[in-house]
Order: sequence, then C-alpha cells, then structure tokens
Amino acid sequence: MRVAVIGANGGIGRELLPRLADAGHDPVGVVRDESQFEAVRERGGEPRLGDLKGEFASALEDADAVVFTAGSGGDTGWDETLLVDLWGARRTVDACVERGVDRYVMISAYQASEPLAEPEALRPYRVAKRCADDHLEQSSLDATVLRPTALTDGEGTGRISATFEYRDGGGDDIPRADVAEAVVACLANNETIGETIRLFGGDDPVEEAIRPHD
Ligand SMILES: NC(=O)c1ccc[n+]([C@@H]2O[C@H](COP(=O)([O-])OP(=O)(O)OC[C@H]3O[C@@H](n4cnc5c(N)ncnc54)[C@H](OP(=O)(O)O)[C@@H]3O)[C@@H](O)[C@H]2O)c1
Repeated sequence: MRVAVIGANGGIGRELLPRLADAGHDPVGVVRDESQFEAVRERGGEPRLGDLKGEFASALEDADAVVFTAGSGGDTGWDETLLVDLWGARRTVDACVERGVDRYVMISAYQASEPLAEPEALRPYRVAKRCADDHLEQSSLDATVLRPTALTDGEGTGRISATFEYRDGGGDDIPRADVAEAVVACLANNETIGETIRLFGGDDPVEEAIRPHD
C-alpha cells in the first residue's frame, strides 16, 4: 500500500517510515518543511509537503492509507493543540473521505476516552485527541485508533501490551519504535478496523497483542 504518514519527521514517524518500507509498503512522508525531505528519503519514504494549518491534501494523492502521528507537542499553547491535534486531525479525516483514501490509523493518546482524568494539565490535550478520534470513528473510513501511553525514545522491543477500549487496564511506558511496529501490524490485519486499542510496554509480540479477541 502507499501509506501517507502525517508527522513523518516526528518521533513515531521516523520509526515508522523504514518499518513500512521493510513491510513492502510505499511510504510517503508528509512534512511541513523541505529541509526534512532528505531525512524522509533516507528512511525509505517519498517526501511531500503538507501543513495541517494550511494545505496538505495534495500530499495524499494516490495514497491507499493514512497514518496520523503529528502533534503540536508539549511546548506550545492550547491554540496549537486546537489547530493541529484537533482541527488538523479532523481535516485529514475529511480529506481522506473526499479523496477515497479508505484506510486510516490514528495515533491518539491513552485516556482520550476519559479526558477529565488526572492530571488536570493534560485535559485540554485529551479533549482534542478524543474529538479527533470521535470524528474518525463516525466517518466512513476503515479506521483503527491506537492510544499509546507515555512514549519513550527507548529501543524497540517488538513486544507490547494492548487492551481494547473501553475496559480498565494500564501498563508501562512504551517506546515509539514499538508503536510504529503496532501501526504496521494493524495495516496488515483488517480485524483491527473499527477497533480502538490502548498500547503499553509489555511482553506480548506486537502482531498478537493488536489482534482483537472475543
Ligand atoms: N509524547 C507522548 O508521550 C505521547 C503519548 C501518547 C500519544 N502521543 C501522540 O503520539 C503522536 C506522535 O508523538 P511523537 O512524540 O512521536 O511526535 P513528535 O515527535 O512531537 O512529532 C510531531 C510531528 O508533528 C509535526 N507537526 C506539528 N505541527 C504540524 C503541522 N501544522 N503540520 C504538519 N505537521 C505538523 C511536527 O513537525 P516538525 O518536525 O516540523 O516540528 C513533528 O514532526 C502524536 O499524535 C502525539 O499526540 C504522544
């Protein structure tokens, strides 16, 4: 599949591009600055320009699937949270519907199901992620929502723990590399369509952990 990664220069995005290429996909790295093109190529991706606060839809040309792993980050204000994490993400869903890009994997966040949970400081971010997730889930797209807990830059282990919404459960922090592995595993498993999956560090092989069970 031609998989457009929105946020390709971010932590998960950088881990994801080479994994998609290794899995036989044609990754497209959507970035907002041409200075990032070479880094995308080095990771096996075709670079394209796209800004979630501006024009990005042309970067989805010919895509079969989209992975959203962009984010405004913790050092910006709530205005950026609204414009990027909420409205930017929603616009990508609409662009996929308009362009007939059916498959979509959203990197959301743990506890987006409970935006008012502690800590209080994260509530606006969780609201933004939840509203974007809801828009995706209510769309016609073949969607998988992944909700990882706190991310680390540790080495990938190929093993995680996953729980399916909306059950209780928690776990360890998770390397970005293992979230990237989970994206590739979801794209290979259509049973994950329609699922919202919480991801933690853990001991289960990624492909098994993301497989829905009764
Ligand atoms: N940090 C955590 O612990 C945590 C936990 C759960 C979920 N998440 C979610 O996981 C995802 C990936 O997180 P991460 O820490 O790997 O991301 P990250 O390193 O912060 O990267 C985010 C990427 O989004 C891009 N971006 C920001 N604004 C943009 C815009 N207007 N248009 C296009 N791209 C834009 C950035 O571009 P530049 O490179 O140009 O700045 C950056 O490459 C995010 O959705 C985040 O909300 C994070």
